[in-house]
Amino acid sequence: MTTPSGTKRIGILTAGGDSPGLNAAIRGFGKAAIGHYGMELIGFRDGIRGLVQNRYTVLDGKALSGILTIGGTILSTSRDKVHRMVVDGELRDMRAQVVENYEKEGLDGLVLLGGGGTAKNAMRLAEAGLNVITLPKTIDNDIACTDTTFGFATAMEIATEAIDRLHSTAHSHHRIILTEIMGHRAGWLTLGAGIAGGADIILLPEIPYSVEAVAETIKARTSRGSNFSVVAVAEGARDRSDAADYEAALLLVKAAKTPEAIRAAKTHLAHVEDSQREHTFKLARELEAATGLESRVTILGYVQRGGTPCAADRLLATRLGTAAADAVAHSEFGVMVAARGENTELVPLGEVAGKVKLVPLYHEWIEAARKLGTGLGE
Ligand code: F6P
Repeated sequence: MTTPSGTKRIGILTAGGDSPGLNAAIRGFGKAAIGHYGMELIGFRDGIRGLVQNRYTVLDGKALSGILTIGGTILSTSRDKVHRMVVDGELRDMRAQVVENYEKEGLDGLVLLGGGGTAKNAMRLAEAGLNVITLPKTIDNDIACTDTTFGFATAMEIATEAIDRLHSTAHSHHRIILTEIMGHRAGWLTLGAGIAGGADIILLPEIPYSVEAVAETIKARTSRGSNFSVVAVAEGARDRSDAADYEAALLLVKAAKTPEAIRAAKTHLAHVEDSQREHTFKLARELEAATGLESRVTILGYVQRGGTPCAADRLLATRLGTAAADAVAHSEFGVMVAARGENTELVPLGEVAGKVKLVPLYHEWIEAARKLGTGLGE
């Protein structure tokens, strides 16, 4: 509902894992929405949870000032699902509550900054009748229908610097150093940082590896006089046997029809995931045994999500944020603002929600790595 003065009133929130560039996007949207279009803006706290509980803060020019370079999100975040949220110890569908809050607050639209899970939440809210828009945020770069996502470039810089630094110890001690890089089930971050940092071996979820092939690459390097290796391992990368177990467990979940079968399949999947959690340490032991070289593991973890966004992410988040303000001003909802080349584009949420953008097997980056002689564990 537009306010009596004819001003649009918009809510904004950040959901899913924090990512560099979130505050730049809030600022980009907010400055354009308030300053250029004369809208009112409120920011819900803690992602979907704050939306359900109607906890928000008014975002004005002062609140948006000085946040461009700050990491994390000034609004805080959570990983809640609007249709299955834990409330008082029970899983509940909170869509009706969100619709009630949206109407009570007189909102004309809601901007959600998030990744794959957020696109699904947004889709559910759009189906419930709300005007929603999403912006693609994640260090994983795995959102469909957009060239890239904000957070990715910064995380790639951090992982690249880590690989650079790990090289020193690897060659000084003649060791194999494995560094585990985030990215969920996609290999973009590991592939990008692996190439940029000159990793000797890059292991991706998209190419289940053979431990023997990895060991052979390392032994070939030793025989050429390079008795150390740096291995960039995606958190989702698995050897062929573990990858097959995971795929089989995933298929069981997809095939399950009854609530009991779904529960059992999900429990099995969680068990498989749990048993594979230490996969990089397992690989380090296997490589040490196969090559005779001492092996060490560094898990980069949340370091990759922290700190100030790089210039590319600030620029991308600002472009997407201001384009979202344009879309709201023109009442274009039910879309994600995507990055396409030099421009932005509105993509229907139905084309984005529930999809994951993996690295295509013949992507140029993979071809480049192959031509460099980088081992991919094939
Ligand atoms: O989606 C971003 C990401 O950092 C992934 O790379 C990783 O798998 C996941 O989030 C970790 O999630 P959480 O913050 O819930 O531990």
